[in-house]
Amino acid sequence: MTDIAFRDAAPADIPVLHRLIESAYRGEGSRAGWTTEADLLAGQRTDPDELAAILADPDQAMLTAWRDGDLVGSVLIANRGEETGYFGMLSVSPTLQGAGLGRRLVEAAHAALSERFGARRVRISVFPQRETLIAWYRRLGYAPTGETLPFPYGDTRFGLPLRDDLHFIVMERTLAWGLCT
Ligand SMILES: CC(C)(COP(=O)(O)OP(=O)(O)OC[C@H]1O[C@@H](n2cnc3c(N)ncnc32)[C@H](O)[C@@H]1OP(=O)(O)O)[C@@H](O)C(=O)NCCC(=O)NCCS
Repeated sequence: MTDIAFRDAAPADIPVLHRLIESAYRGEGSRAGWTTEADLLAGQRTDPDELAAILADPDQAMLTAWRDGDLVGSVLIANRGEETGYFGMLSVSPTLQGAGLGRRLVEAAHAALSERFGARRVRISVFPQRETLIAWYRRLGYAPTGETLPFPYGDTRFGLPLRDDLHFIVMERTLAWGLCT
């Protein structure tokens, strides 16, 4: 995919950013993409208050990708300390998936985590049911650490679970020093 401009999200972007993330993660529209959480969760993925808190936090940022003035992708990056970065809420507009933008966003996240926070390793958390997504993260250099994290049942800010066994597996990769892809 060509002619994509990347920049950090600003508070004025929150409405369109919220729409993009929800469209990628939830609901029937998300099935136009190749991977979605629609089989695991209903409800919301995030909300404008959470996005505002992310943008106000010096240890977090939302990288965004724009084509012809339209928001087409985004990724949350966060500093977890001890040279460890995190990315999440990775979203590409469902009808534009499979053309390489997701990989470019991950590469942008790696570069920003290294440059801004001095990260030398990156961690992500994924539902183990999402086998094709995990396979993609493996191709991007990530491997399971063996750790798991609980799903926050009862907190509807993260969505409405459609099953009672949700949890996350943690995956990690190192960032080559000076080569942040
Ligand atoms: C995950 C996501 C960001 C990927 O974005 P994308 O633009 O499709 O990513 P890319 O085009 O760079 O890469 C897609 C990869 O999936 C593969 N792929 C495409 N269609 C696929 C399919 N039907 N089944 C399995 N893999 C498929 C491609 O071959 C490619 O792999 P490669 O990079 O090794 O060649 C996007 O699918 C999305 O927004 N999903 C919904 C939100 C989400 O689940 N985020 C991640 C949560 S942790």
